[in-house]
Amino acid sequence: MSSTAPYTVRRSRQQMVRDVRKGLTDSPKRLSSKYFYDERGSQLFEQITDLPEYYLTRAERALLQRVVTGLIDELAPCTLVELGAGSATKTRIILDAMIAKGAGVSYAPIDVSRDFLESAAAILQLQYPNVEITPVVSDITEAFTLAATTPPVLFAFLGSTIGNFPREPAVVLLSHVAKLMEPGDAFLLGADLRKDANVLHAAYNDSQGVTAAFNLNLLDRLNRELGANFPLDQFEHRAFYSMEHHRIEMHLVAREPMVVTIPEIGQVNFYSGETIRTELSYKYDRATLEGILADSGMKLEKWIPDEGNVFALAVARVAR
Ligand code: TRP
Repeated sequence: MSSTAPYTVRRSRQQMVRDVRKGLTDSPKRLSSKYFYDERGSQLFEQITDLPEYYLTRAERALLQRVVTGLIDELAPCTLVELGAGSATKTRIILDAMIAKGAGVSYAPIDVSRDFLESAAAILQLQYPNVEITPVVSDITEAFTLAATTPPVLFAFLGSTIGNFPREPAVVLLSHVAKLMEPGDAFLLGADLRKDANVLHAAYNDSQGVTAAFNLNLLDRLNRELGANFPLDQFEHRAFYSMEHHRIEMHLVAREPMVVTIPEIGQVNFYSGETIRTELSYKYDRATLEGILADSGMKLEKWIPDEGNVFALAVARVAR
């Protein structure tokens, strides 16, 4: 492990330089949202999930708590595979229901961040000594493989993370999951629903400015890790809902013309008001998700919206 770590770090740094160069020389400019989640970014995101305006996490948790026993009774999974090892809270709700059923339980969280994954797995292992936990370090946007799993397997993709992918990459990602699924397995998807644009706007423009800090941390990270000289006070957080695309777009806006230097990349020019797009968050209805699932080789089996049609859980099976 210790011999591969420096190599991994070097490789991921080179990957970061390549991604940043590509994104900032493109027009319009963009940066990949995967670089949000350094240590500071992960902390800020945890804070976002507690904000009064950010209803998603609470809505999903409440819905999951209400339906989990019924779902686990019906699907009877022995293995939980979680895409993006999100907050342990969601995981616990599902594991507790699986354990209550009395079957042997194993859990495979999949995440890009090895450090995050391993510490989360270690903590969970202390609380669930009888659950076999096998973390998988992998970028979920690439095809991944799993160690032998005990069927039936429940694949879970929660937090409306699907919404951070446009349709085509979302289909590519879900197709990878479909390829790993056997007929007895199930896929559980958490999705944020289309709603009043003001509610959506507020969720990504909180009054405490935590989402703004989260967005700006991306530039701070480029300053810290790549030695860039982005003047953070000259960039502004902007998030808005596009009715046309049914998505929130998050940008960083240059307040004035400037030239930023990133040593390994060179000079990057900004005109006043130019934006870097940093995140998309699609909002769904049933028909749209059913179509995405179908194109990925899955069949929507159950659609579970909450009372206010705020958030939904979808259960799908492989269509084979
Ligand atoms: N998938 C969630 C969402 O789209 C979480 C998330 C990803 C997020 N990037 C974000 C939340 C940026 C706030 C800001 O809402």
